Amino acid sequence: MTLLFKTATNFTAMTDCLILPVWEKKHLLSHAKNIDGALDGALTAFLKKSTSLENVGDVSFFSPMSKRVKATQILLVNLGKPEGLTSAAFRKAMEKVAGYLESQHYKSVSFSIDDVLLKDADINHTIRFIAIALQHATYRFEPYKSAPKTSALREITIVTTTLDKNLEESIKQASAIVQGMTTMMDLANCPPNICQPNYLAEQAKLFSKAYETITVKILDEKALKKIGAGAILAVGQGSQQKSKLIILEYTGTTKTKAPHVLVGKGITFDTGGNNLKSFEGMLGMKYDMSGAASVFGAVKAAAELKLKINLIGVIAAAENMPGTDAYRPEDVITSLSGQTIEVLNTDAEGRLVLCDALTYVERYKPQSVIDIATLTGAIITCLGDVNSGLFSNDETLAEKIQQAAKTSQDGVWRLPIGEAYDAMLNSSIADMRNIGGAAAGSTTAACFLARFTKKYAWAHLDIAGTASIKTGLHRASTGRPIPLLVDYLLQL
Ligand code: BES
Ligand code: MN
Ligand code: ZN
Repeated sequence: MTLLFKTATNFTAMTDCLILPVWEKKHLLSHAKNIDGALDGALTAFLKKSTSLENVGDVSFFSPMSKRVKATQILLVNLGKPEGLTSAAFRKAMEKVAGYLESQHYKSVSFSIDDVLLKDADINHTIRFIAIALQHATYRFEPYKSAPKTSALREITIVTTTLDKNLEESIKQASAIVQGMTTMMDLANCPPNICQPNYLAEQAKLFSKAYETITVKILDEKALKKIGAGAILAVGQGSQQKSKLIILEYTGTTKTKAPHVLVGKGITFDTGGNNLKSFEGMLGMKYDMSGAASVFGAVKAAAELKLKINLIGVIAAAENMPGTDAYRPEDVITSLSGQTIEVLNTDAEGRLVLCDALTYVERYKPQSVIDIATLTGAIITCLGDVNSGLFSNDETLAEKIQQAAKTSQDGVWRLPIGEAYDAMLNSSIADMRNIGGAAAGSTTAACFLARFTKKYAWAHLDIAGTASIKTGLHRASTGRPIPLLVDYLLQL
Protein backbone atom coordinates (compact mmCIF):
# COMPACT_ATOMS: atom_id res chain seq x y z
CA MET A 1 0.00 0.00 0.00
CA THR A 2 1.21 3.51 -0.73
CA LEU A 3 0.18 6.60 1.17
CA LEU A 4 -0.42 9.69 -0.89
CA PHE A 5 0.73 12.93 0.70
CA LYS A 6 -0.85 16.27 -0.26
CA THR A 7 -0.79 19.82 1.01
CA ALA A 8 -3.51 22.43 1.52
CA THR A 9 -3.79 25.95 2.93
CA ASN A 10 -7.37 25.84 4.17
CA PHE A 11 -10.07 23.52 5.38
CA THR A 12 -12.27 23.53 2.32
CA ALA A 13 -11.05 20.21 0.90
CA MET A 14 -13.21 17.30 1.99
CA THR A 15 -11.57 14.92 4.43
CA ASP A 16 -12.82 12.08 6.62
CA CYS A 17 -11.01 13.43 9.62
CA LEU A 18 -9.08 16.56 10.48
CA ILE A 19 -6.48 16.25 13.22
CA LEU A 20 -6.32 19.49 15.13
CA PRO A 21 -3.87 20.19 17.97
CA VAL A 22 -5.14 21.89 21.09
CA TRP A 23 -2.93 22.88 23.96
CA GLU A 24 -2.75 22.72 27.70
CA LYS A 25 -5.69 24.43 29.40
CA LYS A 26 -7.55 23.96 26.10
CA HIS A 27 -5.78 26.89 24.59
CA LEU A 28 -6.46 27.45 20.86
CA LEU A 29 -3.79 28.61 18.41
CA SER A 30 -4.11 29.85 14.83
CA HIS A 31 -5.75 26.99 12.92
CA ALA A 32 -7.97 25.98 15.79
CA LYS A 33 -8.97 29.60 16.30
CA ASN A 34 -9.93 29.93 12.63
CA ILE A 35 -12.04 26.82 12.80
CA ASP A 36 -13.63 27.95 16.03
CA GLY A 37 -14.52 31.19 14.20
CA ALA A 38 -15.95 29.30 11.25
CA LEU A 39 -18.04 27.24 13.67
CA ASP A 40 -19.26 30.27 15.63
CA GLY A 41 -17.44 29.23 18.79
CA ALA A 42 -18.70 25.63 18.81
CA LEU A 43 -15.18 24.33 19.35
CA THR A 44 -14.59 26.51 22.41
CA ALA A 45 -17.96 25.43 23.76
CA PHE A 46 -17.12 21.77 23.18
CA LEU A 47 -13.73 22.12 24.87
CA LYS A 48 -15.29 23.77 27.91
CA LYS A 49 -17.44 20.71 28.53
CA SER A 50 -14.90 18.09 27.45
CA THR A 51 -13.18 16.10 30.20
CA SER A 52 -11.21 13.79 27.91
CA LEU A 53 -8.32 16.04 26.94
CA GLU A 54 -6.60 16.39 30.30
CA ASN A 55 -3.18 14.89 29.54
CA VAL A 56 -0.64 15.31 26.78
CA GLY A 57 -1.46 12.85 24.00
CA ASP A 58 -5.16 12.61 24.95
CA VAL A 59 -7.53 12.70 21.98
CA SER A 60 -11.20 13.49 21.56
CA PHE A 61 -13.57 13.37 18.60
CA PHE A 62 -15.61 16.43 17.72
CA SER A 63 -18.19 16.59 14.89
CA PRO A 64 -18.21 20.03 13.28
CA MET A 65 -21.86 20.22 12.14
CA SER A 66 -21.19 23.08 9.74
CA LYS A 67 -20.70 23.33 6.01
CA ARG A 68 -17.87 25.78 6.52
CA VAL A 69 -15.42 23.12 7.70
CA LYS A 70 -15.36 20.22 5.29
CA ALA A 71 -14.34 17.44 7.64
CA THR A 72 -16.66 14.63 8.65
CA GLN A 73 -14.95 14.62 12.02
CA ILE A 74 -12.30 16.54 13.87
CA LEU A 75 -9.91 14.68 16.13
CA LEU A 76 -8.56 17.00 18.80
CA VAL A 77 -5.24 16.08 20.31
CA ASN A 78 -3.74 17.68 23.39
CA LEU A 79 -0.09 18.50 22.72
CA GLY A 80 0.62 20.13 26.09
CA LYS A 81 2.54 23.40 26.27
CA PRO A 82 3.06 24.88 22.79
CA GLU A 83 6.57 25.99 23.72
CA GLY A 84 7.55 22.71 25.35
CA LEU A 85 6.65 20.08 22.78
CA THR A 86 9.43 17.50 22.42
CA SER A 87 9.90 15.09 19.51
CA ALA A 88 9.42 12.20 21.92
CA ALA A 89 6.03 13.48 23.15
CA PHE A 90 4.87 14.36 19.65
CA ARG A 91 5.90 10.98 18.25
CA LYS A 92 3.98 9.18 21.02
CA ALA A 93 0.91 11.35 20.47
CA MET A 94 1.00 10.65 16.73
CA GLU A 95 1.24 6.90 17.33
CA LYS A 96 -1.91 7.13 19.41
CA VAL A 97 -3.67 9.33 16.84
CA ALA A 98 -2.70 7.00 13.99
CA GLY A 99 -4.12 4.05 15.91
CA TYR A 100 -7.45 5.85 16.28
CA LEU A 101 -7.56 6.88 12.64
CA GLU A 102 -6.89 3.33 11.49
CA SER A 103 -9.59 1.91 13.80
CA GLN A 104 -12.14 4.27 12.22
CA HIS A 105 -11.35 3.01 8.70
CA TYR A 106 -10.92 6.51 7.30
CA LYS A 107 -9.88 6.86 3.67
CA SER A 108 -8.47 10.37 3.88
CA VAL A 109 -7.17 12.41 6.82
CA SER A 110 -5.77 15.92 7.22
CA PHE A 111 -3.26 17.17 9.76
CA SER A 112 -3.18 20.79 10.82
CA ILE A 113 0.48 21.43 11.61
CA ASP A 114 0.74 25.21 11.73
CA ASP A 115 1.30 25.44 15.45
CA VAL A 116 3.32 22.29 15.91
CA LEU A 117 6.81 23.56 16.59
CA LEU A 118 9.04 20.91 18.08
CA LYS A 119 11.47 22.06 20.73
CA ASP A 120 14.25 19.79 19.53
CA ALA A 121 13.58 19.23 15.81
CA ASP A 122 12.46 21.02 12.66
CA ILE A 123 9.33 20.87 10.50
CA ASN A 124 10.85 18.02 8.45
CA HIS A 125 10.65 15.86 11.53
CA THR A 126 7.14 16.97 12.48
CA ILE A 127 5.95 15.60 9.16
CA ARG A 128 8.12 12.50 9.41
CA PHE A 129 6.65 11.56 12.79
CA ILE A 130 3.13 11.87 11.36
CA ALA A 131 4.04 9.81 8.30
CA ILE A 132 5.88 7.09 10.21
CA ALA A 133 3.06 6.72 12.74
CA LEU A 134 0.56 6.32 9.89
CA GLN A 135 2.81 3.86 8.08
CA HIS A 136 2.92 1.74 11.23
CA ALA A 137 -0.80 1.90 11.88
CA THR A 138 -1.76 1.01 8.31
CA TYR A 139 0.99 -1.48 7.37
CA ARG A 140 -0.09 -5.06 6.71
CA PHE A 141 1.89 -8.02 5.51
CA GLU A 142 -0.80 -9.96 3.72
CA PRO A 143 0.41 -11.66 0.53
CA TYR A 144 -0.16 -15.05 2.17
CA LYS A 145 -3.62 -14.35 3.60
CA SER A 146 -6.60 -15.82 1.76
CA ALA A 147 -8.68 -12.85 2.90
CA PRO A 148 -6.42 -9.82 3.27
CA LYS A 149 -7.65 -6.96 5.47
CA THR A 150 -6.05 -3.97 3.81
CA SER A 151 -6.17 -0.62 5.57
CA ALA A 152 -8.66 1.87 4.10
CA LEU A 153 -6.38 4.89 4.51
CA ARG A 154 -4.99 6.26 1.28
CA GLU A 155 -4.61 10.01 1.49
CA ILE A 156 -2.91 12.27 3.98
CA THR A 157 -3.14 16.03 3.63
CA ILE A 158 -0.83 18.35 5.53
CA VAL A 159 -2.62 21.63 6.16
CA THR A 160 -0.64 24.84 6.71
CA THR A 161 -1.39 28.52 6.11
CA THR A 162 1.71 29.02 4.01
CA LEU A 163 2.90 26.56 1.41
CA ASP A 164 6.56 26.77 0.57
CA LYS A 165 9.24 24.72 -1.08
CA ASN A 166 10.48 23.55 2.30
CA LEU A 167 7.18 21.90 3.04
CA GLU A 168 7.16 20.09 -0.30
CA GLU A 169 10.69 18.90 0.49
CA SER A 170 9.67 17.71 3.98
CA ILE A 171 6.84 15.73 2.50
CA LYS A 172 9.13 14.15 -0.08
CA GLN A 173 11.50 13.11 2.69
CA ALA A 174 8.73 11.69 4.85
CA SER A 175 7.32 9.82 1.91
CA ALA A 176 10.74 8.36 1.01
CA ILE A 177 11.23 7.19 4.59
CA VAL A 178 7.81 5.54 4.56
CA GLN A 179 8.64 3.79 1.29
CA GLY A 180 12.02 2.68 2.67
CA MET A 181 10.37 1.30 5.80
CA THR A 182 7.73 -0.54 3.80
CA THR A 183 10.41 -2.04 1.55
CA MET A 184 12.36 -3.19 4.60
CA MET A 185 9.30 -4.60 6.38
CA ASP A 186 8.02 -6.48 3.31
CA LEU A 187 11.41 -8.15 2.87
CA ALA A 188 11.97 -8.91 6.54
CA ASN A 189 8.45 -10.29 7.08
CA CYS A 190 8.71 -12.51 4.01
CA PRO A 191 8.93 -16.22 5.01
CA PRO A 192 12.31 -17.97 4.77
CA ASN A 193 11.19 -20.53 2.19
CA ILE A 194 10.63 -17.58 -0.18
CA CYS A 195 13.09 -14.95 0.99
CA GLN A 196 16.35 -16.76 0.31
CA PRO A 197 19.69 -15.38 -0.97
CA ASN A 198 18.50 -15.79 -4.54
CA TYR A 199 15.29 -13.87 -3.79
CA LEU A 200 17.32 -10.99 -2.37
CA ALA A 201 19.45 -10.98 -5.53
CA GLU A 202 16.28 -10.80 -7.64
CA GLN A 203 15.04 -7.86 -5.54
CA ALA A 204 18.32 -6.09 -6.21
CA LYS A 205 17.87 -6.61 -9.95
CA LEU A 206 14.38 -5.10 -9.69
CA PHE A 207 15.96 -2.05 -8.02
CA SER A 208 18.32 -1.56 -10.95
CA LYS A 209 15.36 -1.82 -13.34
CA ALA A 210 13.31 0.69 -11.36
CA TYR A 211 16.04 3.32 -10.90
CA GLU A 212 18.44 4.58 -13.55
CA THR A 213 20.76 5.64 -10.74
CA ILE A 214 21.20 2.09 -9.42
CA THR A 215 23.35 -0.68 -10.86
CA VAL A 216 23.67 -4.15 -9.40
CA LYS A 217 26.50 -6.66 -9.09
CA ILE A 218 25.98 -10.15 -7.78
CA LEU A 219 28.82 -12.40 -6.70
CA ASP A 220 27.71 -16.04 -6.71
CA GLU A 221 29.55 -18.87 -4.98
CA LYS A 222 31.88 -19.37 -7.91
CA ALA A 223 32.89 -15.71 -7.86
CA LEU A 224 33.22 -15.75 -4.08
CA LYS A 225 35.50 -18.77 -4.26
CA LYS A 226 37.60 -17.05 -6.90
CA ILE A 227 38.27 -13.98 -4.72
CA GLY A 228 38.76 -16.10 -1.59
CA ALA A 229 35.72 -15.13 0.47
CA GLY A 230 36.03 -18.26 2.59
CA ALA A 231 34.03 -16.99 5.57
CA ILE A 232 30.71 -16.31 3.84
CA LEU A 233 31.13 -19.54 1.86
CA ALA A 234 31.66 -21.56 5.05
CA VAL A 235 28.43 -20.24 6.58
CA GLY A 236 26.37 -21.13 3.50
CA GLN A 237 27.96 -24.48 2.68
CA GLY A 238 25.40 -26.50 4.64
CA SER A 239 22.48 -25.03 2.72
CA GLN A 240 21.08 -25.92 -0.69
CA GLN A 241 20.57 -22.19 -1.16
CA LYS A 242 23.72 -20.69 -2.60
CA SER A 243 25.33 -17.76 -0.78
CA LYS A 244 25.53 -14.43 -2.55
CA LEU A 245 27.23 -11.10 -2.13
CA ILE A 246 24.80 -8.55 -3.54
CA ILE A 247 26.01 -5.06 -4.37
CA LEU A 248 23.73 -2.10 -5.07
CA GLU A 249 25.55 0.93 -6.43
CA TYR A 250 23.65 4.21 -6.27
CA THR A 251 25.26 7.11 -8.12
CA GLY A 252 23.88 10.51 -7.09
CA THR A 253 26.93 12.66 -7.81
CA THR A 254 30.20 12.63 -9.80
CA LYS A 255 31.37 9.06 -10.14
CA THR A 256 34.82 9.89 -8.78
CA LYS A 257 33.45 11.02 -5.41
CA ALA A 258 34.18 8.49 -2.65
CA PRO A 259 31.02 6.65 -1.68
CA HIS A 260 29.35 5.93 1.63
CA VAL A 261 28.72 2.25 2.23
CA LEU A 262 25.97 0.32 4.03
CA VAL A 263 26.56 -3.39 4.68
CA GLY A 264 23.67 -5.62 5.76
CA LYS A 265 23.68 -9.03 7.43
CA GLY A 266 21.50 -11.17 5.19
CA ILE A 267 21.10 -14.52 6.93
CA THR A 268 17.78 -15.53 5.41
CA PHE A 269 17.35 -18.15 8.12
CA ASP A 270 19.55 -18.82 11.13
CA THR A 271 19.08 -22.32 12.53
CA GLY A 272 22.37 -21.95 14.39
CA GLY A 273 23.90 -24.53 12.05
CA ASN A 274 25.44 -27.56 13.72
CA ASN A 275 25.23 -25.60 17.00
CA LEU A 276 21.49 -25.87 16.47
CA LYS A 277 19.19 -23.38 18.20
CA SER A 278 16.29 -24.40 20.48
CA PHE A 279 12.64 -23.83 19.54
CA GLU A 280 12.54 -20.49 21.37
CA GLY A 281 15.93 -19.53 20.00
CA MET A 282 15.01 -20.29 16.39
CA LEU A 283 11.67 -18.46 16.47
CA GLY A 284 12.03 -15.21 14.58
CA MET A 285 15.21 -16.21 12.78
CA LYS A 286 13.73 -15.35 9.40
CA TYR A 287 14.36 -11.79 10.65
CA ASP A 288 18.09 -12.48 10.65
CA MET A 289 18.21 -10.65 7.30
CA SER A 290 16.76 -7.44 8.77
CA GLY A 291 20.10 -5.68 8.31
CA ALA A 292 20.03 -6.58 4.61
CA ALA A 293 16.38 -5.48 4.39
CA SER A 294 17.33 -2.13 5.95
CA VAL A 295 20.04 -1.64 3.32
CA PHE A 296 17.43 -2.18 0.58
CA GLY A 297 15.12 0.30 2.31
CA ALA A 298 17.79 2.95 2.79
CA VAL A 299 19.07 2.66 -0.80
CA LYS A 300 15.50 2.94 -2.04
CA ALA A 301 14.94 6.11 0.01
CA ALA A 302 18.22 7.57 -1.31
CA ALA A 303 17.17 6.85 -4.89
CA GLU A 304 13.69 8.29 -4.33
CA LEU A 305 15.20 11.46 -2.87
CA LYS A 306 17.89 11.63 -5.57
CA LEU A 307 20.43 12.30 -2.82
CA LYS A 308 23.60 13.91 -4.11
CA ILE A 309 25.91 11.27 -2.72
CA ASN A 310 27.32 8.00 -3.95
CA LEU A 311 26.04 5.11 -1.91
CA ILE A 312 26.96 1.45 -2.03
CA GLY A 313 24.68 -1.13 -0.41
CA VAL A 314 26.23 -4.54 0.18
CA ILE A 315 24.24 -7.55 1.29
CA ALA A 316 25.95 -10.65 2.60
CA ALA A 317 23.28 -13.28 1.92
CA ALA A 318 23.45 -16.86 3.14
CA GLU A 319 21.38 -19.47 4.96
CA ASN A 320 22.80 -21.04 8.12
CA MET A 321 21.81 -24.71 8.14
CA PRO A 322 23.08 -27.86 9.92
CA GLY A 323 23.93 -31.09 8.13
CA THR A 324 26.64 -33.20 6.63
CA ASP A 325 27.91 -30.48 4.34
CA ALA A 326 27.64 -27.75 6.93
CA TYR A 327 30.67 -26.15 8.55
CA ARG A 328 31.34 -27.36 12.05
CA PRO A 329 32.70 -26.10 15.35
CA GLU A 330 36.53 -26.24 15.33
CA ASP A 331 36.78 -25.75 11.56
CA VAL A 332 39.46 -23.24 10.56
CA ILE A 333 38.50 -21.03 7.62
CA THR A 334 40.29 -18.32 5.66
CA SER A 335 38.48 -15.02 5.22
CA LEU A 336 38.71 -12.71 2.20
CA SER A 337 41.15 -10.54 4.19
CA GLY A 338 43.53 -13.53 4.46
CA GLN A 339 43.04 -13.68 8.23
CA THR A 340 42.19 -17.16 9.48
CA ILE A 341 39.30 -17.89 11.83
CA GLU A 342 38.75 -20.80 14.17
CA VAL A 343 35.01 -21.42 14.22
CA LEU A 344 34.03 -22.40 17.76
CA ASN A 345 30.31 -21.83 17.35
CA THR A 346 28.48 -22.10 14.03
CA ASP A 347 25.71 -19.91 15.49
CA ALA A 348 28.09 -16.93 15.52
CA GLU A 349 27.68 -16.79 11.73
CA GLY A 350 26.69 -13.16 11.23
CA ARG A 351 30.19 -11.84 11.90
CA LEU A 352 31.56 -14.38 9.41
CA VAL A 353 29.40 -13.29 6.47
CA LEU A 354 29.97 -9.65 7.43
CA CYS A 355 33.76 -9.86 7.70
CA ASP A 356 34.08 -10.81 4.03
CA ALA A 357 31.64 -8.09 2.96
CA LEU A 358 33.57 -5.55 5.05
CA THR A 359 36.84 -6.56 3.40
CA TYR A 360 35.21 -6.47 -0.04
CA VAL A 361 34.16 -2.81 0.37
CA GLU A 362 37.77 -1.65 0.92
CA ARG A 363 37.99 -1.43 -2.88
CA TYR A 364 35.60 1.54 -2.88
CA LYS A 365 37.92 3.61 -0.64
CA PRO A 366 34.73 4.67 1.14
CA GLN A 367 34.17 7.86 3.14
CA SER A 368 32.28 5.80 5.71
CA VAL A 369 30.98 2.27 6.23
CA ILE A 370 28.05 1.32 8.44
CA ASP A 371 27.10 -2.31 8.90
CA ILE A 372 23.64 -3.19 10.13
CA ALA A 373 23.10 -6.60 11.67
CA THR A 374 20.90 -8.66 13.97
CA LEU A 375 24.18 -9.83 15.42
CA THR A 376 23.79 -10.84 19.06
CA GLY A 377 21.15 -11.95 21.55
CA ALA A 378 23.30 -10.16 24.13
CA ILE A 379 22.31 -6.74 22.75
CA ILE A 380 18.69 -7.55 23.66
CA THR A 381 19.75 -8.30 27.24
CA CYS A 382 21.67 -5.04 27.21
CA LEU A 383 19.41 -2.52 25.48
CA GLY A 384 16.06 -4.27 24.96
CA ASP A 385 13.99 -3.08 22.02
CA VAL A 386 14.61 0.58 22.85
CA ASN A 387 18.05 1.30 21.39
CA SER A 388 20.19 -0.33 18.74
CA GLY A 389 23.78 -0.98 19.83
CA LEU A 390 26.32 1.37 18.24
CA PHE A 391 30.02 0.54 17.97
CA SER A 392 32.55 2.56 16.01
CA ASN A 393 36.23 3.18 15.34
CA ASP A 394 35.58 6.81 14.36
CA GLU A 395 34.36 9.60 16.66
CA THR A 396 32.98 11.84 13.89
CA LEU A 397 30.97 9.03 12.32
CA ALA A 398 29.67 7.85 15.71
CA GLU A 399 28.54 11.39 16.55
CA LYS A 400 26.75 11.77 13.22
CA ILE A 401 24.85 8.54 13.86
CA GLN A 402 24.01 9.57 17.43
CA GLN A 403 22.73 12.91 16.12
CA ALA A 404 20.57 11.17 13.51
CA ALA A 405 19.26 8.79 16.17
CA LYS A 406 18.22 11.74 18.33
CA THR A 407 16.42 13.70 15.63
CA SER A 408 14.76 10.63 14.13
CA GLN A 409 13.83 9.22 17.56
CA ASP A 410 15.24 5.91 16.31
CA GLY A 411 17.55 5.40 19.26
CA VAL A 412 21.07 4.04 19.50
CA TRP A 413 23.36 3.59 22.48
CA ARG A 414 27.09 3.54 22.01
CA LEU A 415 28.99 0.66 23.58
CA PRO A 416 32.73 0.08 23.80
CA ILE A 417 35.18 -1.84 21.69
CA GLY A 418 38.90 -1.94 22.41
CA GLU A 419 42.03 -3.94 23.04
CA ALA A 420 41.01 -5.56 26.31
CA TYR A 421 37.87 -7.00 24.71
CA ASP A 422 39.56 -7.73 21.41
CA ALA A 423 42.07 -9.99 23.18
CA MET A 424 39.18 -12.33 24.11
CA LEU A 425 39.08 -13.38 20.45
CA ASN A 426 42.63 -14.68 20.30
CA SER A 427 42.94 -18.29 19.17
CA SER A 428 45.77 -20.71 19.81
CA ILE A 429 45.64 -22.19 16.32
CA ALA A 430 44.32 -19.40 14.03
CA ASP A 431 44.41 -15.60 13.82
CA MET A 432 41.18 -15.42 15.84
CA ARG A 433 38.16 -17.36 17.04
CA ASN A 434 34.62 -16.43 16.13
CA ILE A 435 33.42 -16.12 19.73
CA GLY A 436 34.82 -14.35 22.78
CA GLY A 437 33.12 -16.19 25.62
CA ALA A 438 30.19 -15.57 27.92
CA ALA A 439 31.09 -11.98 28.83
CA ALA A 440 30.43 -8.82 26.77
CA GLY A 441 28.96 -10.79 23.86
CA SER A 442 27.90 -7.80 21.75
CA THR A 443 31.23 -6.06 22.24
CA THR A 444 33.35 -9.07 21.33
CA ALA A 445 31.19 -9.53 18.20
CA ALA A 446 31.88 -5.89 17.30
CA CYS A 447 35.60 -6.36 18.05
CA PHE A 448 35.59 -9.27 15.62
CA LEU A 449 34.23 -6.97 12.89
CA ALA A 450 36.69 -4.23 13.88
CA ARG A 451 39.54 -6.54 12.85
CA PHE A 452 38.28 -6.20 9.26
CA THR A 453 37.53 -2.47 9.18
CA LYS A 454 40.89 -0.87 9.96
CA LYS A 455 41.16 0.89 6.59
CA TYR A 456 38.13 3.20 6.88
CA ALA A 457 35.75 5.01 9.23
CA TRP A 458 33.33 2.34 10.37
CA ALA A 459 30.30 1.93 12.59
CA HIS A 460 28.30 -1.16 13.47
CA LEU A 461 24.62 -1.18 14.44
CA ASP A 462 23.46 -4.27 16.34
CA ILE A 463 19.71 -4.29 15.67
CA ALA A 464 18.81 -7.72 17.13
CA GLY A 465 16.56 -5.98 19.69
CA THR A 466 15.10 -3.17 17.59
CA ALA A 467 14.46 -4.62 14.12
CA SER A 468 11.54 -6.84 15.07
CA ILE A 469 8.96 -6.93 17.83
CA LYS A 470 8.74 -10.11 19.84
CA THR A 471 5.53 -10.75 21.76
CA GLY A 472 4.75 -14.35 22.65
CA LEU A 473 4.83 -16.29 19.43
CA HIS A 474 4.23 -13.16 17.33
CA ARG A 475 7.10 -11.51 15.44
CA ALA A 476 6.99 -8.52 13.09
CA SER A 477 9.45 -6.18 11.45
CA THR A 478 9.53 -2.65 12.92
CA GLY A 479 11.14 -0.87 9.97
CA ARG A 480 13.97 0.25 12.24
CA PRO A 481 16.61 1.58 11.68
CA ILE A 482 15.32 3.14 8.44
CA PRO A 483 14.38 6.49 10.06
CA LEU A 484 17.88 6.66 11.55
CA LEU A 485 19.68 5.67 8.34
CA VAL A 486 17.76 8.10 6.13
CA ASP A 487 18.29 10.90 8.65
CA TYR A 488 22.01 10.10 8.54
CA LEU A 489 22.10 10.04 4.73
CA LEU A 490 20.24 13.37 4.58
CA GLN A 491 22.86 14.87 6.91
CA LEU A 492 25.51 14.00 4.36
N1 BES B 1 21.03 -14.08 14.75
C1 BES B 1 21.58 -14.32 16.03
C2 BES B 1 21.38 -13.15 17.00
C3 BES B 1 19.94 -12.89 17.41
C4 BES B 1 19.44 -13.45 18.57
C5 BES B 1 19.15 -12.05 16.67
C6 BES B 1 18.13 -13.19 18.93
C7 BES B 1 17.84 -11.78 17.05
C8 BES B 1 17.33 -12.36 18.18
C9 BES B 1 23.08 -14.57 15.90
O1 BES B 1 23.50 -15.16 14.73
C10 BES B 1 23.44 -15.51 17.00
O2 BES B 1 23.01 -16.62 16.97
N2 BES B 1 24.25 -15.04 17.94
C11 BES B 1 24.68 -15.82 19.03
C12 BES B 1 26.15 -15.57 19.22
C13 BES B 1 26.81 -16.54 20.17
C14 BES B 1 26.86 -17.93 19.59
C15 BES B 1 28.22 -16.05 20.44
C16 BES B 1 23.88 -15.41 20.25
O3 BES B 1 23.58 -14.22 20.40
O4 BES B 1 23.54 -16.28 21.05
MN1 MN C 1 23.38 -17.28 14.80
ZN1 ZN D 1 22.32 -14.87 13.08
